[in-house]
Amino acid sequence: MTHVHVVGLGMGPQHLTVEGAAALRAADYVLAARKGDVDELLEVRRAVCADHGVTLVEVADPERDRDQAADYPAAVRDWHAARVAAYAAELGARGGTAAFLVWGDPSLYDSTLRVLEQVADRVPLTWDVVPGISAPQVLAARHRVVLHEVGQPVHLTTARRLPEALACGQRNVLVMLGSEGSLGALEALADWSIWWGANLGAAGERLVAGRVSEVLGEVRTARAAARAAAGWVMDAYLLRAPSAGEAVA
Ligand SMILES: C[S@@+](CC[C@H](N)C(=O)[O-])C[C@H]1O[C@@H](n2cnc3c(N)ncnc32)[C@H](O)[C@@H]1O
Repeated sequence: MTHVHVVGLGMGPQHLTVEGAAALRAADYVLAARKGDVDELLEVRRAVCADHGVTLVEVADPERDRDQAADYPAAVRDWHAARVAAYAAELGARGGTAAFLVWGDPSLYDSTLRVLEQVADRVPLTWDVVPGISAPQVLAARHRVVLHEVGQPVHLTTARRLPEALACGQRNVLVMLGSEGSLGALEALADWSIWWGANLGAAGERLVAGRVSEVLGEVRTARAAARAAAGWVMDAYLLRAPSAGEAVA
């Protein structure tokens, strides 16, 4: 029976918890997807593995069919199926105790746990999860904010689904998986507040906060600067409507 530790890495080596480090050291090897020729986040994982004396085994990440954009769920399904096949082959051949170093926390916009459920249909497998620090937590910490008003909800969604969330009346929204293009949706939210962060936890981290109408240009510039400095950019932001301040408790 192969066992897998799914370890949340946080936003970098400095966030690996004591529990995560122990799980890594207990593993015979770490499996990590390689995305393209230059994969900066793979290099972060490689450094973590070197620090903890565990071998990193690269698995070429199957390409996602970007031409299938009209049917996003189908494209993701096919991509997951290809990942399942790749990981099942590797875990089946190697056995023992493996670990995955998941960016942030495995519970948030990450497919590792879904993929492992499917791998377990092909290879005898057990797994456990060690939590990590997610992007929304680091964003909140850097801006020294609570993600919601007292007793109020926070709606967590993707940039792709932000228009839908706004149409449903959400007034306190944490947005992930954005792109330069998706920032255009913020132009309609001129009087909202934004707390934005890119490459959180990395050397080129960028932060911007303020009224959307006043800082959107700065966000765009900072996003481009973060990409130029690191060769990659990921951002997350909290949006709050001006009247969402009434506290109930
Ligand atoms: C595939 S999801 C992974 C989320 C991750 N599992 C977590 O717990 O935060 C990638 C998205 O997370 C956010 N993210 C991840 N790392 C980030 C970072 N260092 N700075 C800002 N946002 C980040 C971005 O919204 C990015 O598009």
